[in-house]
Amino acid sequence: MTSAIDTREASAASEASPLGTSLLLVVTDVRLAAEGVVTITFVDPDGEQLPAWEPGAHLEILLPSGLRRQYSLCGSASDRHRYQVAVLKETEGRGGSVEIHDTGLVGKILPVDGPRNHFALAPSRRYLFIAGGIGITPIFAMIQALPEGADWELHYGGRTARSMAFVEELRSISSDRVHVVPQDAEGLLPIDAIVAAADADTAIYCCGPGPLLDAVQDARARLAPAAAFHFERFAASATRPAAADLGDDQTVEVVLARTGVTLEAGPERSLLDAIRDVVPAVPFSCTEGYCGSCEARVLEGTPDHRDEILTEAERAAGDTMFPCVSRALTRRLVLDI
Ligand code: FES
Repeated sequence: MTSAIDTREASAASEASPLGTSLLLVVTDVRLAAEGVVTITFVDPDGEQLPAWEPGAHLEILLPSGLRRQYSLCGSASDRHRYQVAVLKETEGRGGSVEIHDTGLVGKILPVDGPRNHFALAPSRRYLFIAGGIGITPIFAMIQALPEGADWELHYGGRTARSMAFVEELRSISSDRVHVVPQDAEGLLPIDAIVAAADADTAIYCCGPGPLLDAVQDARARLAPAAAFHFERFAASATRPAAADLGDDQTVEVVLARTGVTLEAGPERSLLDAIRDVVPAVPFSCTEGYCGSCEARVLEGTPDHRDEILTEAERAAGDTMFPCVSRALTRRLVLDI
């Protein structure tokens, strides 16, 4: 399904592009991948190669309404001429997925930031993939990228068989290694039994709704503490304290190095809110520390990380932070904004 590109829209989008937008891509195809799930294909308007990406990466898309949303790439990373994401329609969500499903996007040019990757596939002898619902998208990209002979297994749960995307494609890669569990017919994924099989040579990769991630995290701590664990959330963890409950925050002096402005963020508001007073177009989406949209490079100072994205090593490096939830261990922070 394709249509002509509206170049007037392209120039309008370019002018409206907020900080951090790096690409203008045209939507060439929107199609149903499962009940309530569409795949969207983007290409460069001039047919140029797109920036390389690795499985686990996501795009941040600026929708015509102005909403910013992040979606994991789910196509083949070796295809340098198109990006593909999958979007579940969430009628109780914050509006982005409904806009994508209900707006005719084919032919439109949209600002797209990325690809960025906070969920990279690290080398491992064995992979245990656990996906819930639309959480299959980054996992599907990972499985497509594994070398022949890799040792892996996928456990994929969903509400119903009809709501689960990419099942046939996954089974065509390996019917033996793919275990599909529709909840209405077979119940929930048996997380304890699945995770208990993971040993020190296993990397567990999990993506899906919060309760699934919490269950896998808990099972791994009890039953497979030696296994490496990588996960990506679509919503804040139920067990993460709210920002207001995290203790006595101090006022932070924030220097926006590129903008040339110094501001103060008192304990009653997030650094992101204070930054947006000065730079209203600074990217953000979830405001809860799990989407990665507001990432800022730290040039000086020590962040007090409160996000759900960075690994321990990345936290220790201290060169990036998410100001929607994180604050500072030093009185002053200098950010590359
Ligand atoms: S806005 Fe989502 S991590 Fe900050």
